[in-house]
Amino acid sequence: MNILLFGKSGQVGWELQRALAPLGNLTALDFNSTDFCGDFTKPEGVAETVRRLRPDVIVNAAAHTAVDKAESEPDLAYLLNAQSVEAIAREAQKLGAWVVHYSTDYVFPGDGETPWKETDATGPLNVYGETKLAGEQALQQHCDKHLILRTSWVYAGKGNNFAKTMLNLAKTRDTLSIISDQYGAPTGAELLADCTAHAIRTALVKPDIAGLYHLVASGITTWADYAELVFAKAREAGIELAVQEVKKVPTSAYPTPARRPNNSRLSTEKFQSTFNLQLPQWQAGVERMLAELFTAAL
Ligand SMILES: NC(=O)c1ccc[n+]([C@@H]2O[C@H](COP(=O)([O-])OP(=O)(O)OC[C@H]3O[C@@H](n4cnc5c(N)ncnc54)[C@H](OP(=O)(O)O)[C@@H]3O)[C@@H](O)[C@H]2O)c1
Repeated sequence: MNILLFGKSGQVGWELQRALAPLGNLTALDFNSTDFCGDFTKPEGVAETVRRLRPDVIVNAAAHTAVDKAESEPDLAYLLNAQSVEAIAREAQKLGAWVVHYSTDYVFPGDGETPWKETDATGPLNVYGETKLAGEQALQQHCDKHLILRTSWVYAGKGNNFAKTMLNLAKTRDTLSIISDQYGAPTGAELLADCTAHAIRTALVKPDIAGLYHLVASGITTWADYAELVFAKAREAGIELAVQEVKKVPTSAYPTPARRPNNSRLSTEKFQSTFNLQLPQWQAGVERMLAELFTAAL
């Protein structure tokens, strides 16, 4: 089986290189790949890549993910998050290939307290959400064999993440103000990649499971409570922190160009029952990432 991965260097793309490798012959690209175009500012270029490689499965982890920047560069965000996705979808349809694509809870208006279901009405709050929704719709419209996985609050061990930022601040400051009115489930790129590989294996034998799914770790937290867990685990590991107090503040305390949803809860019942697996509690992945971080620091 030939697999084509776009966005190989991102948080999820990096983990996908590992998780997809056992499934077949993997070609992994990012925006500056030379043999094949992986640059999503060039929809015709990525379409040509699909035509040349003739993959059985395409996994797209490339995206314009800079949520605040997207407000001032909507055309670029749309080009990456929707137009190139459409170009790939059209070519995949001609080949009869699967396209696996990631989307976000930002397609929803972010109000209320109920976990969003796949059937709930969308209503993005910002440009990023609008362009991601347009990408979903393009894929649904132009390629039958698709899996769209909406996720949220993604972190990875590689590169920067919320936990690392908080730990650095906690080493020098005695008080930290952290948002406590946004609710979601921190979801590891590793978990997303492993679930993607599992979903592809299932889709290949059960093509009727094509569709839209919500995929996040189980449980729910806020940024403030997430940070408290990080600090507790750091102290358990013997790391000295200056922080004495976490002040819980509303989203309005940190104005940003893009509006953020308060309710990022996603219902994963459909994913768990269709693919017959149990999504772990969010703390499991975060604690594992922290253990690796603390070991590397020693
Ligand atoms: N991160 C989250 O919290 C989150 C939440 C919900 C959904 N998602 C979705 O999950 C998927 C994976 O996100 P992620 O967290 O892995 O994001 P990420 O780390 O930002 O990865 C996105 C990748 O796309 C690349 N990219 C940027 N411009 C490109 C271009 N012109 N052509 C090709 N690639 C380009 C980025 O490269 P550079 O890094 O060099 O710019 C990066 O490697 C995306 O679809 C995202 O919308 C993410």
